[in-house]
Amino acid sequence: MSSEEMLYAKGSKIWIPHAEQVWESASLEESYHKGDTILKIQTESGALKEIKLKPDGSNLPPLRNPAILVGQNDLTTLSYLHEPGVLYNLRVRFCERQIIYTYCGIILVAINPYADLPLYGPNIIRAYRGHAMGDLEPHIFALAEEAYTKLERENCNLSIIVSGESGAGKTVSAKYAMRYFAAVGGSESETQVERKVLASSPIMEAFGNAKTTRNDNSSRFGKFTKLLFTNQMGVMYLQGATVHTYLLEKSRVVYQAQGERNYHIFYQLCAARAKYPELVLDHQDSYQFLNMGGSPDIERISDADQFNETVQAMTVLGFSIQQIADIVKILAGILHLGNIAVSKKYMEGSDVEDSDSCDIFQNDLHLQVTGDLLKINAEDLRRWLLMRKIESANEYVLIPNNKEMAMAARDALAKHIYAKLFQYIVNVLNKSLHNGSKQCSFIGVLDIYGFETFEVNSFEQFCINYANEKLQQQFNQHVFKLEQEEYLKEGITWTMIDFYDNQPCIDLIETRLGVLDLLDEECRMPKGSDESWAGKLVDKCNKFPHFEKPRFGTTSFFIKHFSDTVEYDVNGFLEKNRDTVSKELTNVLTQSNMQLCKQVMILEEVDTLGTDANKIATTLGGRVVISANRKQQLNETRRRVVSSKQHKKTVGSQFQESLASLISTLHATTPHYVRCIKPNDDKIAFKWETAKIIQQLRACGVLETVRISAAGFPSRWLYPDFYMRYQLLAHRSQIDKNDMKQSCRNIVLKWIQDEDKYRFGNTQIFFRAGQVAYLEQVRANLRKKYITTVQSVVRRFIKRRRYVKLQKIIFGIQRHARGYMARMRAQKLREARAALILSKYARGWLCRRRYLRLCHSVAGIQQYARGMLARNRFYAMRDYFRAVQIQRFVRGVLARRAYQKRRRSIIICQAAVRRFLARRQFKRMKAEAKTISHMENKYMGLENKIISMQQRIDELNRDNSALKHKTSEISVLKMKLEMKKNLEHEFKNIKAACLDKDKLIEALNKQLESERDEKMQLLEENGHSQEEWNKQKQIWCMENRELRKQVDSMIEMAKNAAGNQREHEERMLTEIDNKELNEAYQRAIKDKEVIENENYLLKEELSHFQQQHNGIAAFNMHHTRTASNASSQNEDDVGYGSAKNTLEINSRYPDLRNKNDSFLDNTSIVVKLRSILEEEKQKHRSLQEQYVKLASRNKPTEDSFRPTCCPPRGST
Ligand SMILES: Nc1ncnc2c1ncn2[C@@H]1O[C@H](COP(=O)(O)OP(=O)(O)OP(=O)(O)O)[C@@H](O)[C@H]1O
Ligand SMILES: [Mg+2]
Repeated sequence: MSSEEMLYAKGSKIWIPHAEQVWESASLEESYHKGDTILKIQTESGALKEIKLKPDGSNLPPLRNPAILVGQNDLTTLSYLHEPGVLYNLRVRFCERQIIYTYCGIILVAINPYADLPLYGPNIIRAYRGHAMGDLEPHIFALAEEAYTKLERENCNLSIIVSGESGAGKTVSAKYAMRYFAAVGGSESETQVERKVLASSPIMEAFGNAKTTRNDNSSRFGKFTKLLFTNQMGVMYLQGATVHTYLLEKSRVVYQAQGERNYHIFYQLCAARAKYPELVLDHQDSYQFLNMGGSPDIERISDADQFNETVQAMTVLGFSIQQIADIVKILAGILHLGNIAVSKKYMEGSDVEDSDSCDIFQNDLHLQVTGDLLKINAEDLRRWLLMRKIESANEYVLIPNNKEMAMAARDALAKHIYAKLFQYIVNVLNKSLHNGSKQCSFIGVLDIYGFETFEVNSFEQFCINYANEKLQQQFNQHVFKLEQEEYLKEGITWTMIDFYDNQPCIDLIETRLGVLDLLDEECRMPKGSDESWAGKLVDKCNKFPHFEKPRFGTTSFFIKHFSDTVEYDVNGFLEKNRDTVSKELTNVLTQSNMQLCKQVMILEEVDTLGTDANKIATTLGGRVVISANRKQQLNETRRRVVSSKQHKKTVGSQFQESLASLISTLHATTPHYVRCIKPNDDKIAFKWETAKIIQQLRACGVLETVRISAAGFPSRWLYPDFYMRYQLLAHRSQIDKNDMKQSCRNIVLKWIQDEDKYRFGNTQIFFRAGQVAYLEQVRANLRKKYITTVQSVVRRFIKRRRYVKLQKIIFGIQRHARGYMARMRAQKLREARAALILSKYARGWLCRRRYLRLCHSVAGIQQYARGMLARNRFYAMRDYFRAVQIQRFVRGVLARRAYQKRRRSIIICQAAVRRFLARRQFKRMKAEAKTISHMENKYMGLENKIISMQQRIDELNRDNSALKHKTSEISVLKMKLEMKKNLEHEFKNIKAACLDKDKLIEALNKQLESERDEKMQLLEENGHSQEEWNKQKQIWCMENRELRKQVDSMIEMAKNAAGNQREHEERMLTEIDNKELNEAYQRAIKDKEVIENENYLLKEELSHFQQQHNGIAAFNMHHTRTASNASSQNEDDVGYGSAKNTLEINSRYPDLRNKNDSFLDNTSIVVKLRSILEEEKQKHRSLQEQYVKLASRNKPTEDSFRPTCCPPRGST
């Protein structure tokens, strides 16, 4: 099986071309066999395709690198070194891992991230210091460190060549590299030199950078900065720097394409115009040189701030204030110059335009301001803008300029001034950065424009691409040289590697009768034109393989550059190459009164780099310089000698010279390459545009490097490394640990039959491209086989061990399980027996409990039944007893009712009988009373009674008169009481007067106290009056006391009198009452008794008479009256008292004494006496009431005594 068949097996990954993605990944559907003309594949998107192959298999698609190699730090370590492999590796790093730096051999590929990454801080610088390139991740600092270490170690000159297309990040990378050198080559703290070196960037950017459609800060010149180091005790210190510039884009001063700007410094100056009123500047839009592009601002950048930064940097770099002021005047002068209006001129005396001349107003403001600012004669300036001088053999002629020519002269002057100013600034920078003459080594940083191709490519693109062609040649030669050195060192016999040599292309541009030579020649021709030059080009250069004439027309030509074929438009080539400016106009400026302006205009271009390079070449005398280079140098030196004889150098020849000197400088240094890649045109962070990137990789030589590497023996392995990795590819008998080289040889010989595919070096084995991948594949296959065997053995071992282990475990588990089950069974039996016993006892206990509960409930029922029966018996007995009782009471009630009834009937009978008897007796007594004697006797008794009663009345009258006397006494006492009241009233008045006096005294005392000190005499008088007052007061007190005594005694008397009176009256009254009543009552009772007795006797006599007369003696004997019933009988009489009603009482006593009146019933007399007694009682009551009233009126109150009891408090 051939190596191809092994590599292109089914499933292998390959790359196939793709219209948009450039390369697309696919896998083989079938294995490739030698001679196959069709390869079946499946793309990543799943599409099945067939690729046509040549029978020899020379157009087999490129293989994908093994996954282990994807994302490598160095592209040359890839096994398959081809375009898709490189591209994919870069893509994985940039897009997936966001790593912007990758090595490609000696090149550092830097892809612009368009994002601020934290990769450039002081810590990162420290991290990379002292580390070799492969130690850490690829970085611009690693490359710079490599250069610096080499400088320290070998004390040689080095260069870092940064290239790439516009906006790829060249300037940024160059700045970071310089920052690294400033950091590691200076002291810890920033010294003046480092500050100056770093400060040079903003100045150069302000004057040499501008906004373009591709880059907001595009460098419009090439820059080679040499950082000079001195060796101090083995340490390289930054000592200074020099800056060399190339091909400033002057045309930008007067013209900008749409969306672009002029150089930053003009906009910065306009933004800061307030600081410089003398410049008479306006807004940037009002200047023709600034407003063409229509894009006056840059996003997120303030021109005013940038201006301050520029001025600050200029100050750091030693520009004086006067210098800065003059520089801004020149800049403002350029702007005003651009605004000088050139107008049409008319024929004298007519309206016809003179097409051969033009005019500028004499008082044109901008003309005047330009003159003032540049301190030149404005009229001279005007004159030479409108005229030109043509010199012939011995005389000169003045010819007027038409409008276009005048404007072109104006623009040329502006460009000239700016270019000179830029050169002047670079000179000042160089002076400031390096003024010592000490022998130094340097590290040069070249920030130069990359290969450019536009729709319309002009002279600038031609120069730029020419420079890139030269640099690419230098790069190729360097890489070739390195390869050669490597092979020589390893003692390998080898044939010349075929690599792309762009010398023919360079020859086309720079040899005799080449593009530049013909251009210069045409420029020297008085009637030379772009078209005639183009014709000559076609004539002379057609023989060059890299030249192509256009298919149509004659205004362009093609050059096949190393990266692309570019079509150049010949228009403007001559003019740009000549770069002529009116000598008269420059003279006007040279005669300026401004020192700086004069200085700037007479500035001669000095090729410092060329002289440096010569110097270096002589100092490096011992170094080997490859033949091609040497030849080139000689050519260039010769050319320089020739050109120096010329009166005025063209731009092309100047550029060629400076480029030659640059290349010779670079050849004299150890170069390091940084290739910047612009990933997209939209300036979007981490956006990957494959087509754009592949074009740049091709243009900047990365793929060429890869190709050179691939053409030789790109894969190299140290013997020990190779032995370690591939020892398994040989049999044990072919491996000898002690002779690794032989073992490696055996391995290689065994697997690679073609001897051209490898070389055995002294320390390394060299392989052609793809061989390592092939060995990798073999190794992978073998490893797969061995691994399968080892795996099977190991798996068997593992399985067996597992099985034995499992078996052991199962036996153990079974043993334990059986034991467990037996134990469980025994346990169950034990538990069954125990359950039986337990159930036996439980059942017994339950039965017993049921029986006892039954017994208990039966006894309870019996108890309650017996109780109920007993209660029922008791209730029956109780009911019987109660029935008996009720019967008894009912019977008693009935018996009592019957008895009462009988008794009441008996009494009614008795009453009826008695009433009958009493009536009968009454009738009889009535008849008896009518007898006269009987009545007389009775009257006699009554007369006595009346007499005694009369006597009693007399006594009572006497008592009454005594009482009247007492009443008069009471009235006297009342009088006294009245008097006493009057006294009391007087006392009260006196007391009120006393109180008034007291108040007066108090007032006086107060008055006295207040006036005491002033009126001592009055005090004495007051003392007298006080004494008198005291006396008077004593008298009053005495009187008061006496009055009080009198009142007391009167009160006592009144009290005694009232008490006595009351007692006496009461006693009297009670006595009288009692006596009278008792006596009257006694008498009335006695009379009554007497009368009753008499009445009884009369009744007795009457009954006796009746018995006698009627013979009803028996009845009288039974009807005896007892004391108990007498009252009832008497009452009955009253109850039936018809006699009372019929009694007539002759109301008054005298009627009673009238013996002649008809006799009265004794009862009516008693009634009369009672009424008399009642009258007397009433009289007595009225007297008593009168007395009480008097007593209450005379009774002294507590208030009446109080004022006299004690003198008022507080009185003095
Ligand atoms: N390493 C980086 N990190 C972040 N941004 C970067 C980096 N490199 C470049 N850029 C961005 O890209 C822009 C363009 O970079 P730079 O000015 O260095 O391009 P250039 O190659 O010098 O272009 P030109 O040829 O026009 O001068 C910078 O302004 C910056 O925004
Ligand atoms: Mg730049």
